[in-house]
Amino acid sequence: PKVTVVGAGNVGGMLAQRIAKQNLADVVLYDIVQGKPQGIALDLLQAHTISDLDRQIIGTNDYSDTKDSDIIVVTAGLPRKDGMSRNDLLRINASIVKDVVQSTISLSPNAILLIVTNPLDVMTYLAWQVSGLPPQRVIGMAGVLDAARFQTFIAMELKISSADIYTTVLGGHGDLMLPLPRLSTVNGVPITELLSQEAITRLVERTRNGGAEIVQLLQNGSAYFAPSAAVNVMVESIISDRHRVLPAAAYLTGEYGLRDIFMGVPVQLGRQGAEKIVELKLLDEELAALHASAASIQANINLL
Ligand code: NAI
Repeated sequence: PKVTVVGAGNVGGMLAQRIAKQNLADVVLYDIVQGKPQGIALDLLQAHTISDLDRQIIGTNDYSDTKDSDIIVVTAGLPRKDGMSRNDLLRINASIVKDVVQSTISLSPNAILLIVTNPLDVMTYLAWQVSGLPPQRVIGMAGVLDAARFQTFIAMELKISSADIYTTVLGGHGDLMLPLPRLSTVNGVPITELLSQEAITRLVERTRNGGAEIVQLLQNGSAYFAPSAAVNVMVESIISDRHRVLPAAAYLTGEYGLRDIFMGVPVQLGRQGAEKIVELKLLDEELAALHASAASIQANINLL
């Protein structure tokens, strides 16, 4: 298989490394900056030589090299700086995503589009519109990352391995995302039975703020180790047709009482893309919170 990663920045470079290292696919790394993707590709190839790996990695500024990709991952665009919200990136990143999707999808009409650029849910909607693809073939990455953040914080709080923790996070990749303690468990036991309300509220807040916490600590940069790991898991489920159910931004057609919007829900991912959306039974207040998150995404879609 062939995966194109557009944007040879922090997330894109690290993702190329992960995909090739796991032997999932050959990788084409595209960037608008001359020399950058070529340099990173050479560095990665040399690293893989040391590690005895032999997947092809090509760096390019020429879209024709991306032809006939199975998956196109879009990481092109600006990341946040301290004090910025993801929505502050809307205008500049919308023009980048539009350009990238138009340039790639005509050369790879059968590809699945995986969007990473922020503001995530809005950029995924835009990519779908511009691409003309069936909505099943356009998916946004955020939920795997947000769920991993919640999982990590629970593990730190309980001082146990994160391996035994499962978390559910729904909604948009923004301040109104919805980590659901009731549906987050340690070996099947809801964390609501294991942690105080105070602790849960604190961990939920920290999860919502998980990206900003890192932006603030780094001062000049944003997260990319965990984001690239999250995209990689989605790429793997699609390429290997594993049908894993992962949280991701998918197109809703009435699920959760929402339609014509991309938002984070549990999605079955395989060769066909977003094969099926899982509809969890939510309490009234959870559903209301999900609808509030959707309304904020919709307000930004209306700005496009
Ligand atoms: P970065 O600045 O390191 O890399 C972005 C790359 O995009 C740069 O190499 C830049 O030259 C390239 N680029 C800009 N315009 C382009 C164009 N028209 N065509 C091709 N390439 C172009 O940024 P980083 O940290 O890799 O983040 C990338 C994006 O991913 C940001 O928008 C960030 O907010 C988002 N992100 C989303 C996450 C999520 O959970 N969905 C998590 C982490 C980052």
